[in-house]
Amino acid sequence: MGRIRRSERLGKLPPYLFVEIDRVKNELVESGADIVDLGIGDPDLPTFPEIVSALRESCTDPATHRYPLQRGDPSFKRAIARWYEARYGVALDPEREILPLIGTKEGIGHLPLAVMNPGDLSLIPDPAFPIYPAATWLADGEVRLIKLSEQEGFLPSFTGLIPRDLDRAKLLFLNYPNNPTGAVANEAFFKTAVDFAREHGILVLNDAAYSEVIYEGPRVSLLQIDGAKDVGIEFHSFSKTFNMTGWRLGFAVGNPEALEALATVKDNVDSCVFTAIQRAGEAALALPDERLEELVETYRRRRDVLVDGLHKVGWNVPRPHATFYIWARIPTAERSQEFCARLLRDGHVVTTPGVGFGAAGRGPNCRGGCENQRNAVGFRRGVPERRGGQARTGAPSRRRPTCHEPGVWTMAEYRISLENISLYGYHGASANERELGQRTSVSTDITARQRTSASWGSGSRSTLMSSPTSLRPSRPTT
Ligand SMILES: Cc1ncc(COP(=O)(O)O)c(C=O)c1O
Repeated sequence: MGRIRRSERLGKLPPYLFVEIDRVKNELVESGADIVDLGIGDPDLPTFPEIVSALRESCTDPATHRYPLQRGDPSFKRAIARWYEARYGVALDPEREILPLIGTKEGIGHLPLAVMNPGDLSLIPDPAFPIYPAATWLADGEVRLIKLSEQEGFLPSFTGLIPRDLDRAKLLFLNYPNNPTGAVANEAFFKTAVDFAREHGILVLNDAAYSEVIYEGPRVSLLQIDGAKDVGIEFHSFSKTFNMTGWRLGFAVGNPEALEALATVKDNVDSCVFTAIQRAGEAALALPDERLEELVETYRRRRDVLVDGLHKVGWNVPRPHATFYIWARIPTAERSQEFCARLLRDGHVVTTPGVGFGAAGRGPNCRGGCENQRNAVGFRRGVPERRGGQARTGAPSRRRPTCHEPGVWTMAEYRISLENISLYGYHGASANERELGQRTSVSTDITARQRTSASWGSGSRSTLMSSPTSLRPSRPTT
């Protein structure tokens, strides 16, 4: 060993946040902790049964067992065109303007390789899904962040970019409905983005992985804008729309030259999606709209339970208009990683530090500019509701009580006590006031003394919380 050196390119990537969080979570689970996972956006609801049946049937057909060439099954591409026209009123040429993907993430990951040269720039909102900068760096591109602000509805403004950056910019990443902020874009914004992209010869990509998870606000496609197909592509995912995260299925639509370039990369590295899964995708697209509406209602219910619950205990988190994330300011002076680590260790609640979506802890190309991220944390709402009428009680070890037992974590010195941020989400719609009132608290305010790492293992908590785990700090920003 010791002979294999990783490429310098890989050195630009920060640790993949979700993997690290999962590692810590699994350690706690193994130690018997009853974990409530509000971390990665992975729906707990099963894939619609019609889709599962379609896969069962199609995978027994030997015709699906061969290489899935043709850059997507023609019948699947026609089904996408029908669905897109019905949902967005946009007509697509199935052969030139549609490309099936092994999940949206795969397409996003490969796109910069298809359209960027070393030194080209990606314009990326901050905060954003971490794959955008990662994919750019893997293609030896550079990143320019555009700050998003709550006042501007988390929509980027293009007016502050300097001419030198505009000359080098090749790709603009957008993501509406937005992870992590839950913001939605309207037609006027997409028109501004298309005009901007046209003026500067930039390809604009809208990652629409949450296109169908909208509670309030417009459901708009980038391609609805006149001229968008000249400069734009949009990525759609089956993951959240049909509870199919594990299936790895998505598609890109829009500008034919960009899709052709992306398909060329894919021809050489992956040979497209298993045909049986594409056929199952056809079954998904044929589901009546009401099925999607029911799913959105479930998420809306969970959103309201969690947001109302947090408001009740004094944490005024925003109510997102779309997606199943809450982007909340941390009500203490802690950095997001400290806060999330504490929630995990004290409350056994997994959350995602906001820093993972911002500049800090990233590679050298986007150092700095992270101050407005440090007090934010993303919460997923897709946590299990009661199953079979029973609340999950976890599997506490004999020696350690679970965090859900009344009274365990109540600490007199905490100024604000957040009753059950975990359990509001956990019980979903079935949560009831009395039960919640009996639950224990997770602190959000902590004295300087308690903030020192020594306090983590001190006093009464050390006997209750013996896990040595913590979220490792991300890559230093120096
Ligand atoms: C904004 C965004 N884009 C893309 C993805 C990945 O989607 P897929 O499962 O289709 O790869 C995610 C997953 O969480 C996401 O949040």
